[in-house]
Amino acid sequence: MEYVTLNNGIKMPQLGFGVYQISVPETERCVNQALEIGYRLLDTAQFYGNEEGVGRAIRHSGLPRQEIFLTTKLWFTESGYERARAAIASSLEKLGLDYIDLFLIHQPYGDYYGAYRALEEAYREGTVKALGVSNFYPDRLIDICHFAQVKPALNQIELHVFQQQPSSMETMRRYGVQPEAWGPLARGRRDLFTNPLLNQIAQRHGRPVSQIALRYLLQLGVVIIPKSTHPERMAENFDLFGFQLDESEMQALATLNEGDYLAPPPSRTEHVLNLIRN
Ligand SMILES: NC(=O)c1ccc[n+]([C@@H]2O[C@H](COP(=O)([O-])OP(=O)(O)OC[C@H]3O[C@@H](n4cnc5c(N)ncnc54)[C@H](OP(=O)(O)O)[C@@H]3O)[C@@H](O)[C@H]2O)c1
Repeated sequence: MEYVTLNNGIKMPQLGFGVYQISVPETERCVNQALEIGYRLLDTAQFYGNEEGVGRAIRHSGLPRQEIFLTTKLWFTESGYERARAAIASSLEKLGLDYIDLFLIHQPYGDYYGAYRALEEAYREGTVKALGVSNFYPDRLIDICHFAQVKPALNQIELHVFQQQPSSMETMRRYGVQPEAWGPLARGRRDLFTNPLLNQIAQRHGRPVSQIALRYLLQLGVVIIPKSTHPERMAENFDLFGFQLDESEMQALATLNEGDYLAPPPSRTEHVLNLIRN
């Protein structure tokens, strides 16, 4: 496993397992299998409704707690200091853990400054080891980096071969914020698995297309958290450290960037409307 060091000195695995859209009864089974395969970074969220299953799998794994790096996220309905304070306590209770390694503000909506103050308090108390944000595109990220007392350590955004987010990446580099990809396989959409360039590079390395798409992000220094409910795919997505893309392959893959979002960024009205409808 490779690790990144966050801006507060905490080490984080560069490859992990995401549990979005894994049903509550399936979550414990999937996280168990992921831990058996070797994943040590887990990514959940209050919004996913499956923190309990993730916590149960961690607690029953027999692994020392410090070997696992757990991320969860504060949903926007819990913004504001008071609500966020209660929501952080609720996540700890649902997970059944004494601390959370990384807590993210899921979306820049509502009084997320108040929510961030509550996270800073939890950070000082030691129940949260690192703070970050998600879906904070450059204007929101620059804003919070200037005004928060504890600078966000990480920003989790949509990132994959078709959406490479150059201005977000540049902003994160400047502010010392670690980029993390959600949807690193473009959620299997956009014909990712039949893309001719990805297939050509995959054949050259004798590797599946999934590994080429994921390896590209790793070599850009991004933390990735691919999701699968199938153990053979979990294993495939974990086997990324035995080969390397060369400079010409990296340059070729950079040309796949289309810049279209799978889920529109939070500043887009249609995205806000969808969240309200759901
Ligand atoms: N912060 C945010 O707003 C946000 C938004 C979205 C996601 N996330 C996080 O990021 C994680 C990953 O993103 P994601 O789940 O949206 O998308 P993803 O990891 O890019 O793709 C998951 C999809 O690809 C399929 N898949 C996985 N590995 C495969 C393989 N080797 N071959 C073929 N198909 C494969 C999965 O199907 P099966 O499950 O059927 O195998 C699933 O349909 C989430 O689980 C969540 O933790 C965060």
